[in-house]
Amino acid sequence: VPPRSPSSGAIPSISARLATPRIVLRAARTTDVPELRRIHRKNADHLRPWSPAHAKGEDPTSLTAISNMVARYRQQWKRGEAFVLLVTLRTGGEPIIGRVSLGGILRGVFQNAHLGYWIDADHQRRGLMTEAVDVALAFAFGMADLHRVQAAVMPNNPGSLRLLEKVGFRREGFAERYLEIAGTWQDHAIFAMTREEWKPRTDVTV
Ligand SMILES: CC(C)(COP(=O)(O)OP(=O)(O)OC[C@H]1O[C@@H](n2cnc3c(N)ncnc32)[C@H](O)[C@@H]1OP(=O)(O)O)[C@@H](O)C(=O)NCCC(=O)NCCS
Repeated sequence: VPPRSPSSGAIPSISARLATPRIVLRAARTTDVPELRRIHRKNADHLRPWSPAHAKGEDPTSLTAISNMVARYRQQWKRGEAFVLLVTLRTGGEPIIGRVSLGGILRGVFQNAHLGYWIDADHQRRGLMTEAVDVALAFAFGMADLHRVQAAVMPNNPGSLRLLEKVGFRREGFAERYLEIAGTWQDHAIFAMTREEWKPRTDVTV
């Protein structure tokens, strides 16, 4: 493991494409708005138990909300605050099937990101998100030059717990009332991986 300067802060190109034989991960673009709106609408019930509640009367899948979300992702990327990667299938048209995010990035002595992910309900249980998280880790420890990626999972989310275990995360502990999810301060199991622990499991083409 090469030593890193504590002030390093790589910002990968926003046009980066990270591919495996099955999927491509890339930043969101303005032209994705209609497709993102469809997939968010379709998966509203699937994602609600694991997402922040939205304010009464506010539609998080409105054209304005989705456009603002994409603009925010691109701005955060360029500032090195968060790298949000859309997961697309490597078939005709590369349809969007999910998202992996490396958010809340702090540099300095921490070099850490918070991992988040979801996949379209119809594409679950095919190992696709395990593969996407593998790619996101290669991106985090490679192009983004981070040292640590952490994740928080509610104990009643067996798929997410299993995914982190498969990808090689280490359980660090249990945080009570950690995140406000679906309107309630929920307990979470805390996981992390540092660069020293990372074992590339998937070949990624950039
Ligand atoms: C959690 C989630 C991302 C898993 O995505 P996925 O593409 O289905 O995951 P994978 O197919 O790569 O499966 C990973 C492992 O978890 C297991 N798994 C997936 N869903 C499961 C479930 N509901 N119950 C038990 N195990 C499950 C898989 O079998 C696999 O383990 P295995 O190889 O030992 O069989 C997906 O269900 C999702 O988007 N859920 C809603 C959003 C969410 O919970 N995000 C994470 C918040 S922390």
